[in-house]
Amino acid sequence: MMIHIPNVLTAEQVARCREVMEKAAWVDGRVTAGHQSAKVKFNLQLPESAPEARELSDMVHDALGRSSLFMSAVLPKQVFPPLFNRYDAGMTFGAHVDNAIRAGNGARIRTDVSSTLFISGPEDYDGGELVVQDTYGEHTVKLPAGDMIVYPATSLHNVTPITRGSRIASFFWIQSMIRDESKRSLLFDMDMAIIKLARDHPEHTSNVELTAVYHNLLRQWAEL
Ligand code: NI
Repeated sequence: MMIHIPNVLTAEQVARCREVMEKAAWVDGRVTAGHQSAKVKFNLQLPESAPEARELSDMVHDALGRSSLFMSAVLPKQVFPPLFNRYDAGMTFGAHVDNAIRAGNGARIRTDVSSTLFISGPEDYDGGELVVQDTYGEHTVKLPAGDMIVYPATSLHNVTPITRGSRIASFFWIQSMIRDESKRSLLFDMDMAIIKLARDHPEHTSNVELTAVYHNLLRQWAEL
């Protein structure tokens, strides 16, 4: 299940990211690629240890904590420190699957969910679509600056070649409390339905009952 999370960063935060990144020293993106994906990865990254990367990474991490939609969709156990990449004209990332385990900055996580937070807007570049394959076919994603997409890390995906401009994004992985994607998806659907019920029929006794079922499923399935 792919979920679009709008407005994770404010316009001011996006502007701050761009300002910092203009002056940053970018390196070859293959520094974090596995053996297989290094063969198809052609982009630039901010080194994880760069002070600029730390500042922006903390900003993104804090923004995630304020997003109730992100929390509901991902049920995060641990978020890998957000990284940043840039694709200039001619750059691309061919079909690959993200590494199952990520280690960095003292953290080691199982990657259950992959995410891309767009810092460039669609008007800033041509090409550069994120294409994610799932059992229902291919999904093409290009979002406004500040918006994010989350999708199962088990999916094959690629970024199409840039033909104009530059595409800057933050990308990172999350270990979820719910390892199984189908269970995570059921909990998300249920949470969204409970929110609608509470909004449209706040007096209905099923609000409490369904909320109890949600939490009791979470209690059964969550790994802490
Ligand atoms: Ni990837």
